[in-house]
Amino acid sequence: MTTSWEYRYAQRTKGMRSSAIRDLLKVASQPGVISLAGGMPAPELFPLKEVEEACIRVLRDRGSDALQYSTTEGYPPLRELIVEKMSRYGILATLDNVLITSGSQQALDLVGKVLLDPGDVIIVEAPTYVGAIQAFTAYQASYASVPLDDEGMVVDLLEQRIIETHPKFTYVLPNFHNPAGVTLSRERRERLVSLSRQYGVPLVEDDPYGELRFEGEHIAPIVVIDANRNGEQREGYFKGDVVYMSTLSKTLSPGLRLGWIVAPVEVVDKLVQAKQGADLHTNTFSQMVAYEVIRDGFLEKHVREIRDVYRQRRDAMLATMEECFPEEVSWTRPQGGLFLWVKLPEAVDSQELLEKALQEKVAFVPGTAFYADGRGRDAMRLTFATCSIEKIDQGIRRLGKAITHRLKQPA
Ligand SMILES: Cc1ncc(COP(=O)(O)O)c(C=O)c1O
Repeated sequence: MTTSWEYRYAQRTKGMRSSAIRDLLKVASQPGVISLAGGMPAPELFPLKEVEEACIRVLRDRGSDALQYSTTEGYPPLRELIVEKMSRYGILATLDNVLITSGSQQALDLVGKVLLDPGDVIIVEAPTYVGAIQAFTAYQASYASVPLDDEGMVVDLLEQRIIETHPKFTYVLPNFHNPAGVTLSRERRERLVSLSRQYGVPLVEDDPYGELRFEGEHIAPIVVIDANRNGEQREGYFKGDVVYMSTLSKTLSPGLRLGWIVAPVEVVDKLVQAKQGADLHTNTFSQMVAYEVIRDGFLEKHVREIRDVYRQRRDAMLATMEECFPEEVSWTRPQGGLFLWVKLPEAVDSQELLEKALQEKVAFVPGTAFYADGRGRDAMRLTFATCSIEKIDQGIRRLGKAITHRLKQPA
């Protein structure tokens, strides 16, 4: 007797959905479509030559290590580089605080695996990163949201949410938010930390874009504000209520699948156990190649170059939007990262607009993809990272045309 697989799936699969963005990317990659949809770094900026040379060196000098199993925590020289890199942002971790992950997406999954029981509530920003919702939903989490404005999470509304929902943790994207493009102000970071302390709610700080600042002053990571709260932090001491994560995906290459977590040692130990069950360790070859590429300061130079390119593309996108979007439309002006967020008049449903936009051969991600509760119909995310300035200009003109057309239709 055969039974449908549907009846065999575990309870935890019930909330699982394919990411609307991944589905959309299939349509957006059709010939002639200008895609402002995906969150992908510009492929022409990948350091192909440096990676090729590093692959050769790794295979020639340490080939059998590179093709062997390795430790779950990650390749020690790469972890040391991460420690050094983090210290430049004021995060004074030791090697034991750092776990290399297969992208920060795995970091999210592991955090869910070690912290979440079915039914636990997570406080998220609305909108938030869709991949985090995917990761946490697999552990049967539910969500309470706090809205965003131009200064990031509206932290004034957080306390009430904490009191109402007793959350397991708060998930926050402080820099150049995906999808909203906004950055959490220093004052709000401080308030966030003090509320978290007051109510004993840990913070998960997801920071893939922090290094991609085009302008304005660097703002201390939440993990640093937390560690410094009583002047406690000193070298080799990292013990707080924040789990910080970042990645090489946006600065070097997403295909290498390399991210990291910085957390108190006891949390890292638990995450290591969870990671052993998931994949034993992150790809050894990839870690060694990345280390070879970035060990002598290459990444800092490379990041300066890609920042310049992304800044110019952001400027081009903003300029054309200013010129040809109807005045009822508003948008964020990110100081870095890859994305901006467009607010449409209520009469325009971004899902319907997408159909018209695809006829005009331009794609974006409708706002609903970034809410845990179906909101966001009147918004969309655009990326300025992937296309050339000419294509951005063309794409925004097509989109402007689609919005204007939609606005002219009777409601
Ligand atoms: C906010 C955020 N977190 C995590 C990720 C996952 O990145 P990766 O797994 O490539 O490091 C992304 C990718 O777009 C992201 O935008």
